[in-house]
Amino acid sequence: MLLHEPFSFYGVTMKGNHPTDLSELLKEGTKESHDRAENTQFVKDFLKGRIKEELFKLATVALYFTYSALEEEMDRNKDNPTFAPLYFPLELHRKEALIKDLQYFYGEDWKEKIECSEATQQYVDRIHHVGQNEPELLVAHAYTRYMGDLSGGQVLKKVAQRALKLPSTEEGIQFYVFGNISNAQQFKQLYRARMNTLDLDKNTKERIVEEANRAFRFNMQVFDELDKIGKSLAEAQDGGLPVHDGKGDLRKCPYYADKLGNAGHSCPYQGTVALAKQPLVQLMLAACVAVLAGAAAWYMM
Ligand code: HEM
Repeated sequence: MLLHEPFSFYGVTMKGNHPTDLSELLKEGTKESHDRAENTQFVKDFLKGRIKEELFKLATVALYFTYSALEEEMDRNKDNPTFAPLYFPLELHRKEALIKDLQYFYGEDWKEKIECSEATQQYVDRIHHVGQNEPELLVAHAYTRYMGDLSGGQVLKKVAQRALKLPSTEEGIQFYVFGNISNAQQFKQLYRARMNTLDLDKNTKERIVEEANRAFRFNMQVFDELDKIGKSLAEAQDGGLPVHDGKGDLRKCPYYADKLGNAGHSCPYQGTVALAKQPLVQLMLAACVAVLAGAAAWYMM
């Protein structure tokens, strides 16, 4: 056989020794990005179970905004031949699951308590741009998220459940539960096969791989942002400061805004507690307590 003729190798169409199937091109073409994403500090810490509930909640918020945008654009393009074969709302869509998780963590008024972070907003803007102006690239965003969720996401589910001591009923981690997919491995095979049925020229396939790498970069930017917030939470705790009561959106606390360099105020609650930790202040407080106790004893006599 002449090497420049396309041939099939283990079900993958090859030209010479270069794959031409979109699924293979994506897997090969995003390998380095995948390695980098797996090695971001946030993901490494998460894998080791080093994740606080506050940070996990913010990660869930970021996912909510991301999937809301992604699924809105997928709905818009469900009949577009460049995306239609990959439209699996019942099996894949995560927005409803994420709403359940947010209700669990933030309560019924979750919507008022969350906001889209800067890095997430950039990702969201790109997804909308693609869905509305370059729908042939939408597959790259769907591939990057859903194939990841069906792979490494399943490891993260178990880690989160253990680290955050979440109930075995899977509340708070609905995002990771694909109730309409009985076999993730088989579903990924079907998804790959569907990607390969898209009628795309070489140039478009290259643009899709490029877009998938871009999607990975957006994810890494979100992870880095979360890592920064996580560090400021840890710093606050290292100083012995209690971090409120775990309710509400931490980013709305001016203390954290200050830590992140966004505002010039400091949280009065945290400030008071910090002051009470000073040795001199503690000595004065102890003296006051002693005087008061003495006065009370004298009064009772
Ligand atoms: C927690 C760290 C991660 C682990 C342990 C992990 C693990 C894996 C594994 C084992 C596979 C291969 C699955 C298979 O071939 O059936 C895979 C595939 C994949 N992962 Fe990850 N992953 C992680 C993070 C990520 C992240 C952060 C993303 C993107 C945001 C991502 C996106 C993907 C994609 C798109 C695939 C499909 C590759 C393909 O078959 O074409 N992963 N992951």
